[in-house]
Amino acid sequence: MDDAVEVELLPGDWAEQVRSLAAERDAVILAHNYQVPEIQDIAHHTGDSLGLSRLAAEVDASTIVFCGVHFMAETAKILSYDKTVLIPDERAGCSLAETITAPQLRAWKAEHPGAVVVSYVNTTAAVKAETDICCTSSNAVEVVESIPADTDVLFCPDQFLGAHVQRLTGRTNMHIWLGECHVHAGINGADLKAQVEASPDAELFIHPECGCATSALYLATTGVVPAERTKILSTSGMVTAARETTAEKVLVATETGMLHQLHQVNATTDFQPVNPAAVCKYMKMITPAKLLRSLRDGTDEVHVPIDVADRARRSVERMIAIGTPSPTGE
Ligand code: 13P
Ligand code: SF4
Repeated sequence: MDDAVEVELLPGDWAEQVRSLAAERDAVILAHNYQVPEIQDIAHHTGDSLGLSRLAAEVDASTIVFCGVHFMAETAKILSYDKTVLIPDERAGCSLAETITAPQLRAWKAEHPGAVVVSYVNTTAAVKAETDICCTSSNAVEVVESIPADTDVLFCPDQFLGAHVQRLTGRTNMHIWLGECHVHAGINGADLKAQVEASPDAELFIHPECGCATSALYLATTGVVPAERTKILSTSGMVTAARETTAEKVLVATETGMLHQLHQVNATTDFQPVNPAAVCKYMKMITPAKLLRSLRDGTDEVHVPIDVADRARRSVERMIAIGTPSPTGE
């Protein structure tokens, strides 16, 4: 979409128009925790990848408008193939999902016959179709633990989440793809250490995709940060922890869109980003004006070839069956 037309599409009664167009279209609006605040607030449901996938499979509405990145909208289409799935800007990709292609995964599988493939949900539908079981940051440990201990695991594409899972499961037969998300890899151990030194009483909420997740656990085990104040959490895990915390200050290591939800559920704690520049440009491609256009014009429609969707659905459904009980992960 030409960004110049955004102003024209942003009338004063934007929220009212979004709601009435959604009702007319029989559409449900799902938003990821990294979306801009206006979109998080207008969405019918805001949550993490796993929670939103569960909702996509369950909702009655005939149209799903997915305010997130493309692989998330594709997952919704895979799970609700008969529904119309829209994403307000189909160019909203994911740098992590781009780090492995289906031919690369097929070649890796050929090197490890008999291994079970676990793919993070941040992958294309074609990669999911080559996968045995998908996972998200909120159920990756449980997914790997569900695989017999003597079976090799191929874990892709995020190396930091893979290292976190390997540490928690103590698994030695896990092979990890060396992919990363440019936003989370940019939140490094040096940033974290400096912030912890400046605020020694703060709690830490860290997304397992971060380059600093390893440093955080190292700091915790060496006593630089108390282990009980260091929490490795999915985005909705952070919302739950924010509701429960009594800390004065929390350092948050993930994409900065997360801070909106944290402030919403806890107005007294001071939530501060570990790296204020950790902004996902893809998530921010979904703007209020594009959401309105999507509802008005039915754009951009997400398509997944039926054979790919059928194969990918098995791995996604296995993921949905394992892990946290509530749709929004709360
Ligand atoms: P969550 O599954 O924790 O919502 O994370 C998704 C994501 O894209 C993180 O960058
Ligand atoms: Fe992908 Fe990283 Fe953006 Fe998450 S933050 S959607 S992993 S590019």
